[in-house]
Amino acid sequence: MGKMTHGAAFALGVGLAAGASVAGAQTLNLYTARHYDSDEAIYEAFTAETGIEVNVLEGDSDQLIERIRREGAASPADVFMTVDAARLRRAEDAGILAAVDSDYLADRLPAELRHPENLWFGFSERVRVIYYDTEVYDEPPLTTYEELADPRFEGEICIRSSSNDYNQSMVAALIAEHGLEATEAWAEGLVNNMARAPQGGDTDQIRAVAAGECSLGVGNSYYWTRLQKSDDADDRALTERVGLIFPNQDSQGTHRNIGGAAMVAGAPNADAAVAFLEFLATDEAQELFAAGNNEFPAVRGVDPVPEVREFLDYNYDDINVAVLGENNAQAVRLMDRAGWR
Ligand SMILES: [Fe+2]
Repeated sequence: MGKMTHGAAFALGVGLAAGASVAGAQTLNLYTARHYDSDEAIYEAFTAETGIEVNVLEGDSDQLIERIRREGAASPADVFMTVDAARLRRAEDAGILAAVDSDYLADRLPAELRHPENLWFGFSERVRVIYYDTEVYDEPPLTTYEELADPRFEGEICIRSSSNDYNQSMVAALIAEHGLEATEAWAEGLVNNMARAPQGGDTDQIRAVAAGECSLGVGNSYYWTRLQKSDDADDRALTERVGLIFPNQDSQGTHRNIGGAAMVAGAPNADAAVAFLEFLATDEAQELFAAGNNEFPAVRGVDPVPEVREFLDYNYDDINVAVLGENNAQAVRLMDRAGWR
């Protein structure tokens, strides 16, 4: 474990003598919008190593942020965990996060996956790809996000709503690359090419492509991998028909986002919070954190699940993911103006 920012680690548990090592003697209150079975294994490993019990409150990301804000100084929350840099930005804007200056986290996590002032940290990478119908196209018919706006794909694209953070962050990344005006023109072209009004989640876009409703779709890679690993043969068959394109290999790289966590401002168990964040960056926790949702570990050299190992060979956009949050408001307005519902 790395250097602790707040002095002696684990020695400031609530109402307990320093040195108490009985399981349950110290606690960490975790508010999380993640909900994978493997997360449970992370908490157990953390408790086994530190003696700190983890109390978990699961909920919707925005509701958890609102709850922490409402609870104010009385909030028991120590750590907030969620997915998508845009949601971490909302927590930041709500003023509920505290910076953690940890040499260990700085050393383990790539700089572009953490907040420039250490308000939050990315512990897994997730990437947004293009799905295509291999019965319509023998070869991938495009190689970039930009081409999604090309009139040659009129009526061919399925994508979820602009109210979705994943799409907002993808557009935020395009704004960083091309500027507002060009990205708005792109969004208009994309809307023109939609096969249907935006609906459903990312998995529904894969299903629509496999059903021949659209020949192209947009979504995160892990939804495809989840179907590929499904116990249901019908799900697996979808991934035989639907191919993946990792866009922009010769330019900015495929758009990526994070699953992340942060210390809550005024955390009653601040040392435990730092210890937990640092634990999330250990090899052991990294594997579990990424595997639960078939994402990539943020720490270099830690293996993802075998099904996605080859995805690591692609090029990914290396802008700091904080930019996705910074550009979020502009992205939302731009999508609205372009008629992306
Ligand atoms: Fe997701």
